Amino acid sequence: MTQINPVTTLEKDGDIAVITLNAPPVNALSEIMREGLIAALKLADTDASARAILVICAGRTFIAGADISEFDKVQTGASLRDVQDAFDAVSKPVVMGLHGTILGGGLETAMCGHYRVAVPSAKMGQPEVALGLVPGAGGTQRLPRLVGVESALAMVTDGKPISAAEALRLGLIDALLPEGDVRTAALDYARTVKDVRRTRDMNDKVTGVAPQVFNDFRESHDFGGFEAPGDAVACVEAATRLNFDEGLEFERVIFEARKASAQSLAMRYAFFAERKAGKVPGLADDVPILAIKNVGVVGAGFMGSGIAQVFANAGLTVILVEADDAALARGMDGIAKAYETAVARGRLKQDEADARRGRIKPSTKLDDMAACDLVVEAVFERMDVKKQVMAKLDAVLRPDAIIASNTSFLDLNEIAAATSRPERVLGLHFFSPAAVMRLVEVVKADTTSASVLATALKLTKTIGKLGVVVGAGPGFVGNRMLLARQRQADWLVLEGASPFAVDKVMTDFGFPMGPFALADLAGLDLFWDAATSKGETLRDLLCEAGRKGQKSGAGYYDYDEKRKGSPSPVTEKMLADLRTQKGITPRAISDSEILERCLYPLINEGAKILEEGKAARASDIDVIWLTGFGWPLYWGGPMYHAGVIGLSTVAAGLRKYGVPPSPLLEKLAAENKAFPG
Ligand code: 3HC
Ligand code: NAI
Repeated sequence: MTQINPVTTLEKDGDIAVITLNAPPVNALSEIMREGLIAALKLADTDASARAILVICAGRTFIAGADISEFDKVQTGASLRDVQDAFDAVSKPVVMGLHGTILGGGLETAMCGHYRVAVPSAKMGQPEVALGLVPGAGGTQRLPRLVGVESALAMVTDGKPISAAEALRLGLIDALLPEGDVRTAALDYARTVKDVRRTRDMNDKVTGVAPQVFNDFRESHDFGGFEAPGDAVACVEAATRLNFDEGLEFERVIFEARKASAQSLAMRYAFFAERKAGKVPGLADDVPILAIKNVGVVGAGFMGSGIAQVFANAGLTVILVEADDAALARGMDGIAKAYETAVARGRLKQDEADARRGRIKPSTKLDDMAACDLVVEAVFERMDVKKQVMAKLDAVLRPDAIIASNTSFLDLNEIAAATSRPERVLGLHFFSPAAVMRLVEVVKADTTSASVLATALKLTKTIGKLGVVVGAGPGFVGNRMLLARQRQADWLVLEGASPFAVDKVMTDFGFPMGPFALADLAGLDLFWDAATSKGETLRDLLCEAGRKGQKSGAGYYDYDEKRKGSPSPVTEKMLADLRTQKGITPRAISDSEILERCLYPLINEGAKILEEGKAARASDIDVIWLTGFGWPLYWGGPMYHAGVIGLSTVAAGLRKYGVPPSPLLEKLAAENKAFPG
């Protein structure tokens, strides 16, 4: 065996030269790998005893993409183009043996080979759009040559990986190998191939394609504010009107421009921010993790029944406890319906749905939870009710069991103190709808032990969620910042803006919905009590009039039977009367003022959260907003965006609108710095 460089080896197996790439964890196509691969290909090609070449990867995956961390550095050494040229220069058949996630530059490298074979569990795709990029190593030119324009357009614009079976059907790979040892099966395949077959020379599928195909595709796809998918369409189109080398050059120019674009910088930041979020400063790697097999959920309401499904979907047995039979039956009916819908929509097979549903055991007795390793309470958002349930759980559960609260706003320290095991209590703040949203704020009470925190974080991974650790305090991170925005939005509306104008500014910025549409969705009575309502705010007035949001058919907006909202004249009238009653003469408010007043106080609240140590890093706050509140990915998150705007601009804006900037924001602004990642 020849060790070409630390990540590349070349060896002979009979008359096949085997190149193995090995750069854990994901075999990213870094400079050293590019150089190793080029050198190995040259050496194998000049070895007269080698009839064909097999390229495989060690570890859990074939190349999962170009090395994203290199994109911010000046490129040195061999380029992605050099790798492609090296493949095209080889005079022997090259087989690519694929397993794992063959993504981006990984798939592009695979397409440089002459034959591709994959194990059934392999997944392949061009996810560059998720980083604000287009494929930059020939993907937009080779993919349509293999799978045709229609499939290529879908893959480069939605970025979703396809299965190996689908890849075989489309012509992206040549054979499916048995699951397991790729090397042995791919070697067998390599012994059968005879011809050199370069993708660059396969022009059938890109010849004679009408330009209308691309216009139709553009018209039928809305990419929102994302720039990269449109650019990717242009690159695939270039494959149909330019020769291969011209097409590559076209792609290269667009790739470089995209790489330098604000959107791609923000999206790459978000990629690494998400991966950093799982690492908690000060939490040792060897802290004991408790085994969680049996879980419980108290409360089969909106959140509890969703959380129970999340656990059951991940293979855990769940005991779901309600206060009485009627509420339990309602919750279980809702769960059954959710699984029926998943089957009807083809998302789940009947037997899998039955198995998942069967793992949820209904009960009205907390005593039935005695064997649970962890219980999540999702009862009403009232401190007295929470404390009562906590104390009961404390009495029933094993001393080492963990008790989690799904509270969205209440004081976790007070909740933990209602038990005799405050070190084993924490918050698991699932977002709604729990089955859909990936984010879980893992709320560390002052007393929560490291082991309990580490166990909860591991559990979030097991159930397919993204756990971000936050400190206890009203609203934790996400809802606390949301409240800061809502306060401003409410003032803006009193001063003269219409709620619908405020929402429009937010959706134009890229949010899926504005603060008022969001409030309608959550329910306007979420933090409203008829007994104490004073009719002093628009929300009070709406609730008093029975307009409690989407669920009651009307809130700020009027809703039709499909829950499509339209601006309501009733709301406008209530608002006008409220202003008169308060002696406010409405003034015209510009879109830029609305935007600044909705964003800057939210950022300011994030700065306070950092100051108080309730989030470990600014990027954790960004991850919460990106995954929990629909912050547009191409703006990177509020704290990142603040750095792009400039913290001194944010501080000046806050002062202009009468909001005192936090000391941390002031300090960083004075030093001309951004929030530290
Ligand atoms: N470049 C650099 N580092 C990468 C990377 C990449 N392409 N992909 C993953 N990593 C790193 C992660 O940052 C993480 O590092 P850490 O351990 O220090 O935090 C480590 O590899 C493991 O990653 P994950 O935690 O995400 O591991 P998973 O097993 O959950 O997921 C994966 C694996 C599906 C490969 C996922 O990492 C992923 O989606 N990666 C990105 C794939 C991608 O976008 N590829 C295209 C890149 S752009 C490109 O190729 C341009 C080309 O067209 C020129
Ligand atoms: P919900 O009103 O739909 O459900 C609460 C359920 O708890 C009811 O079914 C009720 O019968 C049950 N319950 C009350 N006391 C009980 C007891 N002693 N024993 C067993 N069951 C009992 O409320 P929802 O919306 O599910 O909220 C639950 C919790 O989740 C709250 O703490 C809330 O703040 C939090 N949350 C809510 C979100 C939302 O969007 N609705 C989002 C994230 C968290």
